[in-house]
Amino acid sequence: MFDIKITGTGSYLPERILTNSDLEKMVDTSDEWITTRTGIKERHIASEKEASSDLAVKAAKKAFNMAGIHAKDIDAVIIATITPDTFFPATACWVQKKLGVRPIVPAFDVSAACSGYLYGLIQSAALIETGVANKILLCASETLSKITNWNDRSTCVLFGDGAGCTVVEKSDGNSGLLSYVWGADGKLGKLLIQEAGGSFMPASVETVERNLHTVSMEGNEVYKHAVTKMKKAAVESLQKADLKGEDVDVYVPHQANIRIIEATIKRAGIPMDKTVVTIDKTGNMSAATIPVGIDWAVRDGRLKRGDILLSTAFGGGFTWGAIVLRW
Ligand code: ACO
Repeated sequence: MFDIKITGTGSYLPERILTNSDLEKMVDTSDEWITTRTGIKERHIASEKEASSDLAVKAAKKAFNMAGIHAKDIDAVIIATITPDTFFPATACWVQKKLGVRPIVPAFDVSAACSGYLYGLIQSAALIETGVANKILLCASETLSKITNWNDRSTCVLFGDGAGCTVVEKSDGNSGLLSYVWGADGKLGKLLIQEAGGSFMPASVETVERNLHTVSMEGNEVYKHAVTKMKKAAVESLQKADLKGEDVDVYVPHQANIRIIEATIKRAGIPMDKTVVTIDKTGNMSAATIPVGIDWAVRDGRLKRGDILLSTAFGGGFTWGAIVLRW
């Protein structure tokens, strides 16, 4: 076990809400299609002036409050995001500056799409276990609305913006990371991709005109892999922790599609009433869905000290991950 403890959580969703009926006026879709295929009813959309760092800062302040600490106590800042403020500096550096975290601590981003928060948590556990860091601000923050093709009905109905932050510290031995699973398969990368804007296809008038700076996805293929990998990661991480589905007190899955969540809990033997579902109100916020789900579960009393928390994710890359944590 890695002796870590999440001592504070916080989340922030932008004020503007975009409902399925709003989307009906924008593209050829219906509330009925979106609800039955995905479980999404509405999502939050950042304002033009809000960048991913702004969302993270608001969520981080709530996490600091819960943990009873200040920005000056943090000794590493890690932000999981695929919608960074800028390619460089890292969003973590902007967050460090805006929060007033000491300028002597490391700050870096994790790019693992929807698995980013779990990748960051596994890295945080390793940093704490080896004594490299003691108090880490680990956030996931996404403004997917800024890389969405609002004319493509097959993707624009899926995504939302939001941030979730956590303070990860050394534990006294009662809480800890019991097991983890993580992996990636770059062969399948093109199935879910933002093609242009990097060194592979630098920004040009043509790439902008062809909408290549937005998310493109082979939905059906991604769906099949997501179901397989999320199920496998859930089962393997429980086995590694010597636990069964019935031992899980709270399950926080990545929220991409309610049908993927239902297939995973069936396979892992976890009841629906132990599963945190936010997708109806948030849409798919990529890396941010898991820390937002954890924050909601802590604040409404579902996730309590000593509970067994299972969390699983799957996303672009492809990447996937699962963690079992004694809260
Ligand atoms: N409204 C109405 N009709 C639509 C819409 C829409 N918004 N979008 C697509 N359709 C149509 C299609 O054109 C198609 O029509 P056709 O049969 O006449 O050709 C029909 O609906 C069925 O389309 P499918 O793509 O087969 O629909 P499916 O049931 O697969 O659902 C979905 C699509 C929701 C995208 C699903 O495939 C999915 O959830 N995929 C996985 C998403 C995921 O897990 N992403 C992972 C992480 S995301 C990240 O990393 C950022």
